[in-house]
Amino acid sequence: MRILIANGPNLSQLGHRAPDVYGTATMADIVAAVRRVHDDIDDFITESEGELITRLHRARTDGTAAVVINAGALTHYSYALRDAIELIDLPTVEVHLSQIAARETFRHGSVISAVVDVTITGAGAYGYELAVLAARHLVAARHGAR
Ligand code: DQA
Repeated sequence: MRILIANGPNLSQLGHRAPDVYGTATMADIVAAVRRVHDDIDDFITESEGELITRLHRARTDGTAAVVINAGALTHYSYALRDAIELIDLPTVEVHLSQIAARETFRHGSVISAVVDVTITGAGAYGYELAVLAARHLVAARHGAR
């Protein structure tokens, strides 16, 4: 089973970016930690909304079983991303390192939440491991294993 971890704008700057909010691990550290537990991870990171959407389109046909996505600030306003998640129709877990509901008002809303299966916020880097576990569960459920 291939699980895609897709990261959007500014997540490449983890480690340097607001460590009090996001922690000190880089995205490479986070993906490496997930890979120590799960051997079937594909990862993708981009600063671009279009590239993120194009990668999701590819996930529909390249054997990806589920998607874990941290869309960064696109979360809060990208209807194009929302449409892409909806149309690929794969089990999808939204993850945020920080507890977005406890931050600035503009971060409280997610335009993608309505089209994902699970949302994990505020667990820091560990949220990615939780998200992959949830993604596995969703795939099993969709294929009638539970
Ligand atoms: C984030 C929260 C977003 O509001 C922010 O724009 C990010 C990171 C998180 O992981 O907590 O880039 O998605």
